[in-house]
Amino acid sequence: MNLKDHIRHVPDFPKPGILFYDISTLLAHADAWKEAVKQLHALIAPLKPDLLVGIESRGFLVAAPLALELGIGFVMVRKKGKLPGPTVRHSYALEYGEDTIEIQEAALRPGQRVVVLDDLLATGGTMTAAIELIRKVGGEVAATAYLIELSFLNGRKRLEALGVPSHSLMVYE
Ligand code: PRP
Ligand code: MG
Repeated sequence: MNLKDHIRHVPDFPKPGILFYDISTLLAHADAWKEAVKQLHALIAPLKPDLLVGIESRGFLVAAPLALELGIGFVMVRKKGKLPGPTVRHSYALEYGEDTIEIQEAALRPGQRVVVLDDLLATGGTMTAAIELIRKVGGEVAATAYLIELSFLNGRKRLEALGVPSHSLMVYE
C-alpha cells in the first residue's frame, strides 16, 4: 500500500500559494490508517521510549494510537491555557507574532526518554519549541516522528542542530 495515495493535496490553503497536505483522507480510510500506525510502530519501537509526547492538535491523532500499540503512556503538549495544575510554558516565533505551548510539570520524570509525534514536519518551529519545553521539565528527547515531512523547508536540519533525529513515513521534496 502506498500511503501517499491517501493524502489529499489542497492548493491555496490556508493561504494563497500554499499547498496543504491533508491527512483527513488517510484517517478516514481504516486500512491505510492502520498501516500508517503499524509503520510508525516499526520505526519507534526499537528506540524504546518511556513515553510518547503528542503536539496539539493533529499530533494527538498520531501519538495516542501509537502509545497504545507500544504499551506506554502518552503526554500532551498543548497550546497555552488548556492544561490544569502547574505547567511549564515556552514561547516561539511564528511568521507573524508568536505562540506559546505548555506541558504539565508532572507529566515527565527527569531523565525519561520520550519520542515526540506530530502529523507533519514543515519548518520545524513547532517541534523545536516542543523539544525546549520537554527539556525544561527534565525529559530526554530520543527522536521525533511524523506522517509527513516537507523536506524543502529544512525542519530536519533544524532539529539535527538540537541533536534530535527525525523519522517520517512520507517525504515531499
Ligand atoms: C501544523 C502541523 C504541525 C506544524 C508544522 O500545525 O500540524 O504541528 O503546523 O509546522 P512547522 O514545522 O513549520 O512548525 P498547526 O499549527 O497548523 O495546528 P494543528 O495541528 O492544531 O492543526
Ligand atoms: Mg499541528
